[in-house]
Amino acid sequence: MTDTTATTFADDVLSGLARRPRTLPAKYFYDEAGSRLFDQITRLDAYYPTRTERAILTHHADEIVDAIGQDAALVEYGSGSSDKTRVLLDALHARRTLAAYVPIDISEAFLHETAGRLRPLYPGLPILPLAADYTQPYTLPGLPDDTSRVVVFFPGSTIGNFERDEAERFLEHVAQVAGPGGALLIGADQWKDADVLRRAYDDPDGVTAAFNLNLLRRINRQLGGDADLDAWAHHVVVNDAERRVEMHLRSGRDQTLHVCGQAFAFREGGTIHTENSHKYDADSLAALASGAGLSRRARWTDDRGWFAVELYEVASTE
Ligand code: AVI
Repeated sequence: MTDTTATTFADDVLSGLARRPRTLPAKYFYDEAGSRLFDQITRLDAYYPTRTERAILTHHADEIVDAIGQDAALVEYGSGSSDKTRVLLDALHARRTLAAYVPIDISEAFLHETAGRLRPLYPGLPILPLAADYTQPYTLPGLPDDTSRVVVFFPGSTIGNFERDEAERFLEHVAQVAGPGGALLIGADQWKDADVLRRAYDDPDGVTAAFNLNLLRRINRQLGGDADLDAWAHHVVVNDAERRVEMHLRSGRDQTLHVCGQAFAFREGGTIHTENSHKYDADSLAALASGAGLSRRARWTDDRGWFAVELYEVASTE
């Protein structure tokens, strides 16, 4: 981590803890240990989104390939190891329909390792990795001349971790990147039974609890924090009115947390709000996207309607 990001982390933590209600930005979950824990979460029985999305992509691969169309450049946001994309890349590559694959991730080393691993699996497919923060302005690498359009792929329901206004701005940015005739293929977790949601975010193995508490561990390590991990607990709220699952850290006793030399007092039961995971339904994402000039062209779900993969298009100017 560079000094600038360390400063931003400190600023964000200090201002979040000073606010009421107290909050910490969810993006700070993903240090090395946090990324490993998240990877474990995606393989838990209780955490249905990852495998449900993969099943949708597998089951509807042919229709999705048709909807993406010939000679598209697939630009994946937050590609990581590109594991979940393999199903789609396999289907696209089998029909030789893709002009290029552009994985975008913030971690440069990880990205190049992934690109190196994928190239032999998809001979002839230009793989053009880009190390960037996709929430900030960036420039796409030069695409092959025969590229027909840009299709942004944003799987995993990461859109759910944005606040509604952030999601709106993000969709506007995607529409701009994809450009006229371009598209967005997005995975969105759906609102469902509260017990299913609670179990997914408060799994019996305690992996999600460890993921949430790791934020305090990171604060201790990087910001000279003195959080006693035994005095904090993982706390999940299924918020029906807001259609979201919330994660909080709850203080187990009256205590003072010190960070960067500043003191923050907590009562027993006092909380820090660490994440929102918004859930969508058949129409709510389409309504949000239409404000950004994106029209829904297709929607694929699993039998239970627990997760949806949707394709949106930017109106063509021709
Ligand atoms: C990355 N994101 C879509 C996950 C989610 O489901 O909101 C993060 C997560 N938080 C707890 N478990 C998983």
